[in-house]
Amino acid sequence: MRIALIADTHLSVRSPECVANWHAARRAIARIDATFSIHLGDITLDGQSDEEELAFASRLMRHWPTPLRCVPGNHDLGDGSGETPLSAERMKGYGEMFGPGRWAVQAGSWLLLGIDAQLLGSGTTEEATQWAWIEQQVLPAGAHTHTALFLHRPLLCRSAGDAVRRGRHVNADATRRLLAGPLHSTLRLVVSGHMHQFRDRVIEGVRHIWMPSTGFVLPDEHQARQGEKVVGMGLLELKGSQACFDFWCPDGMVRYEIDDLQFFQTQAASQKPQLANAR
Ligand SMILES: [Fe+2]
Repeated sequence: MRIALIADTHLSVRSPECVANWHAARRAIARIDATFSIHLGDITLDGQSDEEELAFASRLMRHWPTPLRCVPGNHDLGDGSGETPLSAERMKGYGEMFGPGRWAVQAGSWLLLGIDAQLLGSGTTEEATQWAWIEQQVLPAGAHTHTALFLHRPLLCRSAGDAVRRGRHVNADATRRLLAGPLHSTLRLVVSGHMHQFRDRVIEGVRHIWMPSTGFVLPDEHQARQGEKVVGMGLLELKGSQACFDFWCPDGMVRYEIDDLQFFQTQAASQKPQLANAR
């Protein structure tokens, strides 16, 4: 099974550069034989505060060349940590346009789990429901031997020396529960977005891949460098017990820095742009 991976597309009528890179990704996916694609969140530039951006992105997705499964990002739903409280109404609207925020796919000996990282650490009923759902996915003993987890924020793995900044990673308690809880015996791979950087590391037996944005990077003065500041997309190929990963920047995809983008220059004149939150 071949699975295309994209992240942090930040689609909006205010970000034509990101839309152009989206089309470069779409053309690249049309040229390969992928079974389906996974979007790792931050589909929109600021759908959390402008529902029309969710609708705009949803219209673009209708022309994606494969089935597409999504997990929500902070710029789609808000931030469950309290900076931007989660809205039940916005979560419902998101689900109607992009499908459920959590999903499971069985692929041979692999179980692929997509979860809503915005709920983790929120203390909400929805978070408790998601934890119960995760436990249910591993109940059929022997049904799978490998698990791959897909979510917007990377896990906080202190052994990797990750700097701790609120909102950057899944918080420590939820990270521990994901790594040492019911998924522990089968978890092989964690794929996330959010950082706008590419990184591929194995930490205590689990491979952690940070998918970069298709749209843009943040310069070092806005965000510490912890991986490669590139734009691009990924292809995950599952063969038996193997997970092979390739990263590439397709023809026509431009490596913008956030300062290059029209919306950033417009906002910078009047207020601090919210995307600096990614740093
Ligand atoms: Fe992002």
